[in-house]
Amino acid sequence: MRISFSESIHLLQRGDVVAVPTETVYGLAASLDSETAIDSIFTLKNRPLTNPLIIHVANLDQIEKFVVDYPPSFDLLAHHFWPGSLTCILSVNRHVSSKICAGLPTAAFRIPALELTRSLLTATGPLVMPSANLSGRPSATRPEHIEEDFGQNFPILDGGICEKGVESTILLYQKGEWVIVRLGALQSELFAPVLGYIPRYVQKSNEVQPICPGQHFRHYAPKAHLYLGNVSDLAVSPFILGFRERNYPQGKKVILLGSVNNEREVAENLYQALRQLDHEKASHVWVDMDFPRDGLWQTIAERLTRAGERYSHLNFI
Ligand code: TXA
Ligand code: MG
Repeated sequence: MRISFSESIHLLQRGDVVAVPTETVYGLAASLDSETAIDSIFTLKNRPLTNPLIIHVANLDQIEKFVVDYPPSFDLLAHHFWPGSLTCILSVNRHVSSKICAGLPTAAFRIPALELTRSLLTATGPLVMPSANLSGRPSATRPEHIEEDFGQNFPILDGGICEKGVESTILLYQKGEWVIVRLGALQSELFAPVLGYIPRYVQKSNEVQPICPGQHFRHYAPKAHLYLGNVSDLAVSPFILGFRERNYPQGKKVILLGSVNNEREVAENLYQALRQLDHEKASHVWVDMDFPRDGLWQTIAERLTRAGERYSHLNFI
């Protein structure tokens, strides 16, 4: 159910959950002041309580109350990439409820680029917003995706199609350097002019605690089995997920990710294409992984790989 901007403010202020657009993906928003709304987010999404939420704010002033200290170069990152598709993990005080940070001493923060979202945040104050999908499913980049997962009556602030199409890039400062703990809409190379180095992508930690808890759950997955391969090992397949420029005579039905020369287009279409496989009731799909691995392609490759995993939990450590 599409609702207006003022209805969204009203619902969020009285402690309801509303689906809200951002430039990356839609989020399920709840006010930081409403424990019940935060609880419902975990229930609605069927999200493990061990997976913390990102706090979205309109500006840096809204963060100050929560943060204990800022790591080196945080100011530079904030100045260059906010508002935008960067999430930073920062040490926080007890103003952040332990539900939000899942018991960790840190919380994730982001100032979204979409103006509509920031106007909302200015009116409501900080909102937690995990991606607006059932846990494990592809994220939602269109209002229809939210209706698929949460029903026609779910309140949605309509922002159209999300321009970036994949989630924010998450950075954490550890042992003297910023590292990427979730690949995302900002490719790692973009940080080099600001930090003086390309942050490494760190998937596993040596500590007992997971470095980015959400990375250890199954993600982005359609119902179909995905077979990831190169054009040379393409087998006959009822469904193929591939690129506009290529011919796939072995495929009965080809679902297009976009152009192999346009990673932005592919990122924008990615979750729509994965969800379309479910609409088509695809059970076995061959995915063309013959594309570059630099820039945003690295994120696209990671999402497709995760979507193809068949486990419910990945092992960490
Ligand atoms: O683009 C995005 O980031 C979207 C939009 C709605 O803003 N949000 C999003 O939220 O992707 P979610 O909940 O689907 O993913 C948040 C990720 C999870 O993997 C979670 O484990 C990680 O952020 N995270 C949150 N707090 C953390 C913390 N304190 N330390 C490490 N990872 C954290
Ligand atoms: Mg998510």
